[in-house]
Amino acid sequence: MDAIRIYGGKRLEGQTTIQGSKNASLPILAATLLIKGTCELENCPDISDVFHMQRLLTSLGCKVEKKEGIVRVNTECLSECDMPSDSVGVMRSSIMLLGALLARTGYVCMEYPGGCVIGARPIDLHLQSLRKMGVRIEETGAGFCAEASKINGTVLRLPFVSVGVTENLILAAVLAEGETVIEPAAREPEIQALCEFLISAGAQIEGSGTDRLIIRGVRSLRPVRYRIPADRIVAGTYLSACMCTGGRVFLKDAPVNHMESVLETAVRMGAAIDREPEGILVTGRDHESTCNSLITGCYPAFPTDMQSPFMVVMAVSGHAGRIEETVFENRFRIVSQLRRMGAGITVQGSTAYIDGNSRLKGMIVQAEELRGGAALVVAALAAEGTGIVTNRHYIDRGYEDIVLSLRELGADIELA
Ligand code: UD1
Repeated sequence: MDAIRIYGGKRLEGQTTIQGSKNASLPILAATLLIKGTCELENCPDISDVFHMQRLLTSLGCKVEKKEGIVRVNTECLSECDMPSDSVGVMRSSIMLLGALLARTGYVCMEYPGGCVIGARPIDLHLQSLRKMGVRIEETGAGFCAEASKINGTVLRLPFVSVGVTENLILAAVLAEGETVIEPAAREPEIQALCEFLISAGAQIEGSGTDRLIIRGVRSLRPVRYRIPADRIVAGTYLSACMCTGGRVFLKDAPVNHMESVLETAVRMGAAIDREPEGILVTGRDHESTCNSLITGCYPAFPTDMQSPFMVVMAVSGHAGRIEETVFENRFRIVSQLRRMGAGITVQGSTAYIDGNSRLKGMIVQAEELRGGAALVVAALAAEGTGIVTNRHYIDRGYEDIVLSLRELGADIELA
């Protein structure tokens, strides 16, 4: 039962509502640790990464419950500083707890975090930057212990842009002594959401959404209620499915303002996009593609998380194209599975060349990571015949119910 069966070749037609954002929920759940009392989060998605984060918070002594769609985190009884290795091991975002826990308790021991296998994904910059803020860190074989009786604000000039590092440093800085400058800071919408959440709780953060953040430490933060924004990557995945099948779908609540590069790429590749007050109306094959290439990058550039679904769009588009991956070195893992399905794709270093004239065939393929797994489902929707995507648990890390959502969009799809 860890698989999805897809009867391919059907044009998508319908409407689905886009869930809350995974990448916004995880750091915001970590941020609740900074606040004594109960925070309330609306629109937190029911996905396994969020469950793991909630479990981590519970194991640290927090009370976490979900009632009537609202996640409540009470951090009054925060006690433990050692995190259970099974949850830390499966999810890279557990590193986010480091900055927050240090700020709240001054001491953390944890194993190195896991997560999707899409590159080396070291945490050297997290540790190096926290050391500059006065945190003592001792690495052991499998993990590390970090300690700081006081975190000092400082100017942090980073060698490259990192989403996770920016988030971790924000969490370490909001209750620190003095002023912290983070430069270059990542500008992803999920970082803006984290800043919005913290500012509403009383944090002093300037420059949210820019590449320079200035954070003035405050003594304490107050409990707040916050609504998690919709997931731009999930919206982009269903958009790509519509493009592959030539359908017409409405993505309710899709965060149109945060999807500019994806929408612009979709239009270049032949889709029509209507930005409506309630979401996005996508018409899959509206006109001839004018350019079939893309380069991934930090926000506002084309997101690396959307690269695999768009590789499928390009494979069936009828036009040759190429993808240059600049963020994660290992994001081409699905190429071998797509080739088995009949896609003409070759990879040279960080560039994939797609012949664009593929007729995909449904077959049994294996998800190896989250976004690549979702892209295999998209490929099976575009393929002839029946396809099965195994290792569904990777997809469940980020999609609330991909089968239900795609059924709402008219797909012939079921659990297998
Ligand atoms: C986050 C997102 C992920 C997205 C990625 C890039 C979450 C939960 N995950 O991941 O979906 O694909 O941003 O937009 O929000 N790096 C180092 N050393 C470090 C930290 C990072 O070398 O200490 C490297 C990474 O290996 C990678 C690059 O920096 O090559 C960017 O990674 P980063 O922005 O940190 O990604 P994540 O925060 O892990």
